[in-house]
Parts: sequence; C-alpha cells; structure tokens
Amino acid sequence: MTILTHQQRQLELKPWETVLDCLLRHGVALPYACKAGMCQACIVRAVDCSASEESRKWVRPELQALGYTLACQWVPDANVQAELPVLADFAVRSTIRSLQRLNDDVLQVLLEITDPRRMFAYRPGQYLTAINGNGTARAYSIANDFNEDGCVELHIAATTHGEFTRWLFDTASAGDTLYVSGPAGHCHYDVRDDADAALILAGTGTGLAPLYGIVMDALRQQHTESIHLYHAGRTPAQLYLVDTLRALASKHDNFHYHPCAVEDDGKAGDIKTGRLEQILAHDLNRPNLAQSRIFLSGAPTFVHAARKKLYLLGARSEHIHCDPFTERVVVTV
Ligand SMILES: Cc1cc2nc3c(=O)[nH]c(=O)nc-3n(C[C@H](O)[C@H](O)[C@H](O)COP(=O)(O)OP(=O)(O)OC[C@H]3O[C@@H](n4cnc5c(N)ncnc54)[C@H](O)[C@@H]3O)c2cc1C
Ligand code: FES
Repeated sequence: MTILTHQQRQLELKPWETVLDCLLRHGVALPYACKAGMCQACIVRAVDCSASEESRKWVRPELQALGYTLACQWVPDANVQAELPVLADFAVRSTIRSLQRLNDDVLQVLLEITDPRRMFAYRPGQYLTAINGNGTARAYSIANDFNEDGCVELHIAATTHGEFTRWLFDTASAGDTLYVSGPAGHCHYDVRDDADAALILAGTGTGLAPLYGIVMDALRQQHTESIHLYHAGRTPAQLYLVDTLRALASKHDNFHYHPCAVEDDGKAGDIKTGRLEQILAHDLNRPNLAQSRIFLSGAPTFVHAARKKLYLLGARSEHIHCDPFTERVVVTV
C-alpha cells in the first residue's frame, strides 16, 4: 500500500494512481486542466521526498530545486508527501491592462506584469499558466514580445460552460489581478537554428496567438527565407487579425498569409476552404519540407493530424514544433 500524505492526512493511493487523481478523489481542490503535463495548472510541492523524474521534467529547473512537480504526471512507487504550492514561489502578479474583442468569440488580453520581484522572461509563442482569483488555472499562448510592447498579449476564445473563459468574458475587467507562471513550451523562433530555413506556421482558432508571436519575432530578427502562415476558422467570420496580417504581407515580400475556413459561408473571397491539414498537404512544396521549420497550434485534433500528415510528406519530426491546446475533459451525465 502506498500512502500520500497531504496536510497531515494519510491518503491511500490506488495502484498506478497519480497524485492529482488521488487528491481529487479525496476532495482536495487542486487546480488542473489537461492532465497531460501541458498546462502546468496542477503544480504541487514534494516534501521530504523526491518526485519522479517523469513528473519533474516538465517544471522549470529553479522550481524543481524547490521540490515542485506536476501532480498529474506523478505516480509514486513509495510513500510520499505532497503539499499545495506557494503562489509566490512559482507565479508573478499581473494586472489586466485591457480586454478587447478580436472577433465575436475571441478576446485580446493585455497584461502588465506588476510584480516588483521579477520580470517575466519568455519567447513569443511559448505559453504561460494564468491563475485567477478563484484559483482556476489555464494555459494560454503568448502572442507578443514583452520587450517590444511592455505587456503580455494573449488571445482567448470563449468556451461554452468553460470555467476560466466564462469568468474572463463575463466578470473580469481592466485592473483585475491575474497571476501568471511559466513560461513553458518549445514553440518559438530560434534564430540559431531557424534563420536559414523556410517557416511554415499553421493553426486553428486562437492557435493564431503563438504563430503571430513567432512571425513577428522572426521578422524582427530579419528572417529572410519564406514565412507561410495558415490560419483557419470553422467559417471566415471566425478568423481575426485578417487586415493586420494582410498589411504585414504587403510590407514583407517573404511573408505570405493564407486565411482558410472549413466551411464557405458565401463570403470567403480569397479564403481557402477545406480542412486545414488537407490544404497544407495540397499547398506545400514537398522537396523543401525536410528543411522547413514547422509550427502547429490550436485544436489537438488538427495538431495531431497535421503533424502526422506533414511527417509522412517529408517534414523532419525534430523540426515540427507544436503545442496542442489540450482542454480539461469534463464528463457530464
Ligand atoms: C499549451 C496550451 C496553450 C493554450 N493556449 C490557448 C490560447 O492561446 N488561447 C485559448 O483560447 N486557449 C488556449 N488553450 C486552452 C485553454 O487552456 C483552456 O483549455 C480553454 O480556455 C478552456 O478553459 P475553460 O476553463 O474556459 O474551460 P473548462 O472549464 O476547462 O472546460 C473544458 C471543456 O469542457 C466543457 N465543459 C465544461 N463544463 C461543462 C459542462 N458542465 N457541460 C458540458 N461541457 C462542459 C467546456 O465547454 C470546454 O470545452 C491552451 C491550452 C494549452 C494546453
Ligand atoms: S499539467 Fe497537470 S493538469 Fe495540466
């Protein structure tokens, strides 16, 4: 029998049970979302014991040194003690500067980092974990460069019944506090590795957020090879930043913007219609795919399908960077 100690309670772990599932089963309100090691919402502190390598590897080294690990990836094989995290250890305070609609369903959220202790260093395209006053924690990709704009930009889609997004769309306002932790993820431009390669970026919905950040970062760093950005919505009305991206394409000869939609609502114009992974397979120059750097983001079904398709067409797996937007699985009866 393996025992998990939490706040002086001795909880019995089932065989192969994660620390997160055990805590939830015993009524502990630990935040979580993806249960896949992605969102970093379920961070806990291992006390007087060592968490598994598998559960620690997702966490930044300085937090690992304080005992932090992801509860959803930690399956103990001996008695352990896990305590809730100390917010000040792993998150910084930010203030919502503005909330602005980018289309009917998407909000642009600008955050000022108001925590005096440290700035928040990241590469555009990585993601952070945002924690609101109710303790709800969710991952969001970063669409800009803090050093350029003096704020952090997120694009967040309304989600029916969604806990965090309902709070954001219905209750939150400028001036509210949001804690942010991170960054995490490897979906970003790396001038040492990517400078001489064609860039192909493809995303659905708010999957545009990291891709927009990466495009702007690459252009700022004088990327001269071609950059192709594919952005898809279910309908043309679900696209956003269309005029901004068209203007960017007319300013930079090497940047090409491809708006796409699954369904043609009669207003598609030059917008390509069809499933995005099929549009990519049709458009992309196969002989050059092996040298290209590919960035995929948005709905997990799209990311996994496109990753497989592009790999089979010749892209190299180490050059495909993706952060699928894995959501919390909510079972309703
Ligand atoms: C690496 C990463 C990056 C991400 N980046 C972004 C980003 O840049 N922009 C963005 O918009 N999102 C992003 N996400 C997704 C984001 O983290 C959240 O999952 C999303 O915003 C939904 O959160 P929520 O709390 O509103 O929904 P949740 O409360 O977590 O609900 C999850 C799902 O369950 C459904 N649901 C909940 N309750 C019920 C119910 N009672 N009945 C039926 N269905 C229900 C919801 O409709 C939703 O589809 C990212 C995710 C990851 C992992
Ligand atoms: S990382 Fe553990 S729930 Fe998302």
